[in-house]
Amino acid sequence: MGNAEAAAAKITVDPVFIVGPVRRRTFGAFVEHLGRCVYTGIFEPDHAQADEDGFRKDVLELTRELGVSTVRYPGGNFVSGYRWEDGVGPVENRPARLDLAWHSTDPNLVGVDEFMKWSAKAGVEPMMAVNLGTRGTQEAVDLLEYCNIDGGTARSDERRKNGAEDGYGIKMWCLGNEMDGPWQIGHKKAPEYARLATETGRAMRMVDSDLELVVCGSSSPGMDTFGEWERVVLSESYEVVDLISAHQYFEDFGDLQEHLSAGHRMDAFIKDIVAHIDHVKSVKKSTKQVNISFDEWNVWHMSRAESKAPGGKDWPVAPVLLEDRYTVADAVVVGDLLITLLRNTDRVHSASLAQLVNVIAPIMTEPGGRSWKQTSFHPFALTSRYASGTVLNLAVESPLVSSEKTKDFAALSAVATFNEETGEAVVFAVNRSIEQDLSLDVALAALGNVKVVEALSYSNKDPYWQATADDSTSVVPVANGSVKLDAGRLTAELPATSWTMIRLNLA
Ligand code: AHR
Repeated sequence: MGNAEAAAAKITVDPVFIVGPVRRRTFGAFVEHLGRCVYTGIFEPDHAQADEDGFRKDVLELTRELGVSTVRYPGGNFVSGYRWEDGVGPVENRPARLDLAWHSTDPNLVGVDEFMKWSAKAGVEPMMAVNLGTRGTQEAVDLLEYCNIDGGTARSDERRKNGAEDGYGIKMWCLGNEMDGPWQIGHKKAPEYARLATETGRAMRMVDSDLELVVCGSSSPGMDTFGEWERVVLSESYEVVDLISAHQYFEDFGDLQEHLSAGHRMDAFIKDIVAHIDHVKSVKKSTKQVNISFDEWNVWHMSRAESKAPGGKDWPVAPVLLEDRYTVADAVVVGDLLITLLRNTDRVHSASLAQLVNVIAPIMTEPGGRSWKQTSFHPFALTSRYASGTVLNLAVESPLVSSEKTKDFAALSAVATFNEETGEAVVFAVNRSIEQDLSLDVALAALGNVKVVEALSYSNKDPYWQATADDSTSVVPVANGSVKLDAGRLTAELPATSWTMIRLNLA
């Protein structure tokens, strides 16, 4: 804090102006068979904290504290070469397989049944992906039968024999992963994928009419095919699917101001996808509304050494991969991305932070050792815990900032939620300027008589501070003492590069 010349920003909060509900599914995450996310992440049978099924209790506890709602599984790029049958039945009979996506070996100690057990313990909703890279409709339907049919058929009875009496009733299914990407095993051109996804989705609905299906959208806004991919895929699948996926990662290439524009860029991506969806809807004269599953998002320093997969004859089990260490600035970006997802709750109906443990993750573990929270854990956990009710449409007045690449974006990113039942209103705000503090003025007379319950900010003199296993607690969100409330007007100082949460309650 402490920039003498703070700039002024203003928001007006009025509970009459609603974007849509706060959806629990906005707070999803992702567990992929990648690096140490599964093995020595959620699962480590010989760890002192392992439970009777081999799951790390410390990780389960942190997952609950993070407030994760849905968890996508088992990939990611991994799923496009995955044979789900390898991961069910007696563990001693399961084959070790090459994982081509991450040049690793998967011992198949964890499969669908283990993941479902873990989901129940973590209290999360599973979101399953089928392999449309090397496999097709039949294998997807077989997996669905295994998971969701109660019994009396070959696949469902196999599941019962493996210990799960009742069908799992998994609702959300991804029709493949990033099939637009040339790196994807079984990568397809848009018309090929459109046909396969549509027919697979149709057959899956014949097994269980109650599914919510996610068709693959673009892997990033930077794909040459972005837009046209959405048009072609949705033109074929529109009436069969409920959601189209969006993936986007943000990297700090050394220009911090550019990094802090991430929320602005995500917002633009969402608006573009909405335009593509609605174009197809309009051309089809459809009354159905397809929405967005933003099922991979995060800061990922993809070009750094951490993301280099093994090569040659080296096919390790659970290698150290994508173990990015996050800074306070990265956490501010994560907080802003979550604000952006909430602000678009009318069209973003589900989202998954990629990923949950060790792999570009808010939770880290040492094999056989400690677990700890990265910086990004804090804004996610607090937003998940306190955002509730409806997302309000704010009137925002903000100065603009520019980076070398991205010009004139709002310094203030904000959203407010209001829960009519509990009388709690929460303002989440990010100051994206790396140089200037913001004096925030919140007009909230329309809420009625409110009092401040809590105001927390997350920032640091050194925005590059990172948590480690030895010190994950010396920089955490702390009370923002500048908050003042007087006659329907709240004021707060938002330090440069900061995330803030202000909780209010009807007095
Ligand atoms: O989350 C890491 C990888 O990013 C996923 O496997 C893939 O879907 C995306 O490219």
